Amino acid sequence: RASWPGVVEAYRDRIALPADARVVTLHEGDTPLVPAQHLSELTGCQVLLKVEGANPTGSFKDRGMTAAISAALATGSKAVICASTGNTSASAAAYAARGGLTSAVLVPRGKIALGKLAQAVAHGARILQVDGNFDDCLELARKTAAEHPVTLVNSVNPARLEGQKTAAFEVCDALGRAPDVHCLPVGNAGNITAYWRGYREYAADGVVPATPRMVGFQAAGAAPLVHGRPVAEPETIATAIRIGSPASWGGAVAARDESGGLFDAVTDEQILAAYRLLAGREGVFVEPASAASVAGLLVTAADGRLPAGSLVVCTVTGHGLKDPDTALLGMPEVEPLPVDPTAVATALELA
Ligand code: F0G
Repeated sequence: RASWPGVVEAYRDRIALPADARVVTLHEGDTPLVPAQHLSELTGCQVLLKVEGANPTGSFKDRGMTAAISAALATGSKAVICASTGNTSASAAAYAARGGLTSAVLVPRGKIALGKLAQAVAHGARILQVDGNFDDCLELARKTAAEHPVTLVNSVNPARLEGQKTAAFEVCDALGRAPDVHCLPVGNAGNITAYWRGYREYAADGVVPATPRMVGFQAAGAAPLVHGRPVAEPETIATAIRIGSPASWGGAVAARDESGGLFDAVTDEQILAAYRLLAGREGVFVEPASAASVAGLLVTAADGRLPAGSLVVCTVTGHGLKDPDTALLGMPEVEPLPVDPTAVATALELA
């Protein structure tokens, strides 16, 4: 194919956007669906990773942001605002810059990974660090957008989910069917809602014969959907999903119930183990939140909730470079080496 045009142009007839909207794109989407050999052996399933860190700003948010920024421009908006645990703000800042809009981002102070903050800075966003969590930031962003001429580009903006559902289309297009099971990390719950919409639309139009079971994993300290009630003070090392009151609560519950899926919680230890396994055994470096889907896959395969032989897609939502601090946790101090081949051989225990 000559050149992938980005998700809006690739699926133009399936995305609700004004027909004459100028599309602001970084040619997001068309991300790899990578067979995970080690995970397949461990689980007895056929496991594939939808590697969303391969998007232009390093997360799945770009799929929704191309649509949201294009829609904002079409309505004459000059400025956008969002609350974020980091990835939405990075994506909003990039697409706003490309579309000639200004952007403002509200982030929980001290709780956003370094790479994401760097992206918002690089793209020229107005960055407001709030003394509160993501849920507080979202409330502030909603109020600001309701009272001032700025467009809210969180996933409560309908264009966002329209763009994000294209990931389900891509999975089906690659496999020629839907998987049996789709595993996702869940925070604000927009993504699981969007995937379910995409799978349902393809099935309704006969593009695929069936829909997958939607399986969502939250961090144990931030698992409102698992407990069935909001969490006042969410806490997890996976800062991207440190959310206590998901905006798309209803969409996530519908995805689970209509698909015969499930929600479960995974501990930070399980998330970190999956994070290291993905990087160390599969060669796929993701951020901690992304590893929640794989941590959950391992648990549900081990206890039989996920039948052996299933075709399973796990979305790994963001790139590992987003969060260098977590990658470097526990790295030992090492002595510098002299410029000496013998020293290298000795250090590597080859001599
Ligand atoms: N994984 C990553 C890397 C994320 O950044 C997010 C959400 C999720 C998973 C969860 O997706 O919210 O659709 O259920 N990040 C948002 C943000 C909240 O502000 O970047 P969700």
